[in-house]
Amino acid sequence: MTSRLTLSEQFFRDQADHGATGGLSTVLNRFSLIGRMLASEIMRAGFVGKLGYTGTTNVQDENVRQLDVIGNDTVNTVFDAIPMIAGIASEEMEDVHLPDGCEDGKYIIATDPLDGSGNVDVAGQMGTIFGIYKRLSSSGRPTMADFLQPGRNLVAAGYVLYGPCTMMVYSAGGPVHGFTLDRSIGTFFLTHPNIRIPEGAGAYAVNEANERKWSDKTQAMVRAFRRGETDCGPRAARYSGALVGDFHRTLLKGGIYMYPGEVQKPAGKLRLLYENGPLAFLCEKAGGLGSDGTRSILDIVPEQLHQRTPLFLGSKGDVEEAVRRLA
Ligand code: F6P
Ligand code: MN
Repeated sequence: MTSRLTLSEQFFRDQADHGATGGLSTVLNRFSLIGRMLASEIMRAGFVGKLGYTGTTNVQDENVRQLDVIGNDTVNTVFDAIPMIAGIASEEMEDVHLPDGCEDGKYIIATDPLDGSGNVDVAGQMGTIFGIYKRLSSSGRPTMADFLQPGRNLVAAGYVLYGPCTMMVYSAGGPVHGFTLDRSIGTFFLTHPNIRIPEGAGAYAVNEANERKWSDKTQAMVRAFRRGETDCGPRAARYSGALVGDFHRTLLKGGIYMYPGEVQKPAGKLRLLYENGPLAFLCEKAGGLGSDGTRSILDIVPEQLHQRTPLFLGSKGDVEEAVRRLA
């Protein structure tokens, strides 16, 4: 029998332990609400004609799926309802959204409302990734500088994973805890307290079909993982096409997730503010590392909302080895 500690009870403990404020608990609680709402949307999407594309592309030139729009609208609506958010940056919006009451809002949110939405049509894993910053300016409409903060400034980050079960994993600066949704009563219970990334185990995850686009060094580094020729030991290969799902496995089982830069696209694909930053924050809080190949993801100060960086995320030994082989 696992503990019957609920997510909201853990938020109160965090408040006491880490000096977090009641405001932060409310924001985290709202992400658990978004998680429950989107889990339900995803479950019913096939019955109500909500699979497939909208026919439009987003600011990243990616084809937008109906559930991407639902995810983004859900985040905006849920935070419009409480007067404590100064602004929201999202993968699905070219510019930021300033909710009602933003002048007095204390927190900035960076989110990928539905990461891995390519898995929607095949009932694969997806997730909502989020990072929460304190605004830098004191009041009024937030400025771009409030949004372009390095991952080190995150006060909390996490994700809700939509898979065979719905899980919420977060850290408010302390340990990383994982909660599983009991759907019958709509409550998340603590099932994975104090998650630590295992060393010397797990899988490597990378889209190997991109090999021809990589530099020689990147090709050689990935080859070493594939052939089990790394110093950190042999690894299985796993790749789901959803960063959040691949990261969740890496967090629990060890290993490394990679989205390297390419010769023609040195920054790779994934976005710093709402994908790489929040997951690197969780990874480091769980004892792992997040790197762009030369420095910690958390030290990079974003220059643009939708900026991309290469990503190497996972156990310390694996990420250090990948970085060493890229040098
Ligand atoms: O959000 C971007 C994303 O969908 C990630 O979730 C995923 O890991 C990655 O892109 C997959 O990209 P590719 O299809 O190029 O491997
Ligand atoms: Mn994504």
